[in-house]
Amino acid sequence: MTGELSPIDKAKFVAAKQATDYVEDGMRVGLGTGSTAAWLVRCLGEMVREQGLRIKGVPTSTRTAELAREVGIEVISLDEAKWLDVTIDGADEFDADLNLIKGGGGALLQEKIVATASDQMVVIADIGKEVETLGSFPLPVEVVPFGWQTTQALIEETLVSMDVLGRTTTMRMNGAAPFVTDEGNHILDLHLNRIGDARQLAMVLNQMPGVVENGLFIDICDAVVVGYGDGRVEVR
Ligand code: 5RP
Repeated sequence: MTGELSPIDKAKFVAAKQATDYVEDGMRVGLGTGSTAAWLVRCLGEMVREQGLRIKGVPTSTRTAELAREVGIEVISLDEAKWLDVTIDGADEFDADLNLIKGGGGALLQEKIVATASDQMVVIADIGKEVETLGSFPLPVEVVPFGWQTTQALIEETLVSMDVLGRTTTMRMNGAAPFVTDEGNHILDLHLNRIGDARQLAMVLNQMPGVVENGLFIDICDAVVVGYGDGRVEVR
């Protein structure tokens, strides 16, 4: 499954592999989105096929659903599952309090809904995702298409009074057209550089008309499994 991996892929793979320890027979498992989460889905698929592991997976995006089915994992909807034992997902940044920025892959809305409906959320990440203060990675904010430029202007205006360094926002593009999420929305990326009060920013953003959800995951993550390029793994 792995062949010869680059250090970054090895770090993602070992974190994903280690995180399979959180999954037990019979569990309902939230399956994250992104390149690290894809390793997890492949590892779990191997356990299903070769060890007879029985799990039901709730994917956080159409691409994760496709991969899960491809590797042999039974896929069900969140409403069928109702509640999950564990969700395992990647992240774009995590800090010492296990707060996260997510949504680099555009799946933050389903990811947050699924993680919140789980007994436990475990993040898998390479060590490059660890930060002292969140904000170097542009913060994704999912907005409805209607009036998105007005929503963007409102966000920029509001950022002036917030504890952040940068204030530029950009519409995420897919070629010449705005990127469209699985829920039919767009993503504004907020280039903030440093987020002083992530909890407050998350609340303020979600109160704005036009904003569906933001990529700050505050008090949602229970553990981060960190992988290194030399194959070491640590749990935070
Ligand atoms: C997708 C996400 C991903 O988990 C995040 O972007 C990390 O991706 P990768 O594992 O490819 O670095 O939040 O919306």
